[in-house]
Amino acid sequence: MSVLAPRPLRVIVVCNRKGGAGKTTTSVNMAAELAAVGWRVLLLDLDSQGHCAVGLGVKVPHGGVCLHSLFTNPQARLLDAVRDTGVDNLALAPADQLFEHGTGLRDELRLAQALTDPEIAERFDLVIVDTPPSLDLLLLNALSAAHWVLVPFVPHPLSFEGVRQLMRVLFKVMSNQNPALKLLGFLPTMAAENIRQHKATTGDVARQFGALRVLPAIRNDIKLAEAFAMGKPVRSYAASSRGAQDFAELATCLTQLLTK
Ligand SMILES: Nc1ncnc2c1ncn2[C@@H]1O[C@H](COP(=O)(O)OP(=O)(O)O)[C@@H](O)[C@H]1O
Ligand SMILES: [Mg+2]
Repeated sequence: MSVLAPRPLRVIVVCNRKGGAGKTTTSVNMAAELAAVGWRVLLLDLDSQGHCAVGLGVKVPHGGVCLHSLFTNPQARLLDAVRDTGVDNLALAPADQLFEHGTGLRDELRLAQALTDPEIAERFDLVIVDTPPSLDLLLLNALSAAHWVLVPFVPHPLSFEGVRQLMRVLFKVMSNQNPALKLLGFLPTMAAENIRQHKATTGDVARQFGALRVLPAIRNDIKLAEAFAMGKPVRSYAASSRGAQDFAELATCLTQLLTK
């Protein structure tokens, strides 16, 4: 049950073309934190590695309906892929680990269309989409369906170039497929406050795209990797860890941004 008044459905895409940028860790823990403060959250896993289900300890039966069924079967319905996670207020449409990226229906608006199902808006306030580390039709689907983009990045100099490239893609989508798309922010992940390189890269991002666009960082914390391996959000695995504190602060900040 939501503790909040009814809200319009909002869709956030978590993306960065680099693998290992913290997309899945962010998607799972941000989803769990926002669910804990009363948002009714649906997490969509577009990356066929299927790590969101792993991170939430959800078993996906072989051959069951998955999020990727939308892209292999024109009749598939998103709600048929939605499963409980065991976390209050948080449901998951898991990935199909057998889906081959680059195959399937050539429709960049398939996800946007699936999200217009009125039952989705009745059951959920927030959709969070974890994406593959590629620039393919699935990412285009996610960006075309979203209201907001959140970009996790590891603050080292190579990531800055990756973020700049990604921004060029976002600006293109904003001026073509989805003019309503907005940047929710850049999220430094695996950050170490005392490493000069991290400060410098976060500073570069702030200078180029605006300081207000940089969200409160997620520090490096082994508890986040451990929680993932145990199939639990960090808030239930290690409630007093740095990782849990940082994701709680992020959820407070995002709730303000999403409701203002
Ligand atoms: N803040 C963090 N502190 C420590 N390890 C992290 C942190 N964020 C992510 N990791 C670890 O880094 C690896 C890559 O993270 P992941 O979220 O899977 O990235 P992506 O989805 O972008 O490929 C995983 O092993 C994850 O457990
Ligand atoms: Mg991932």
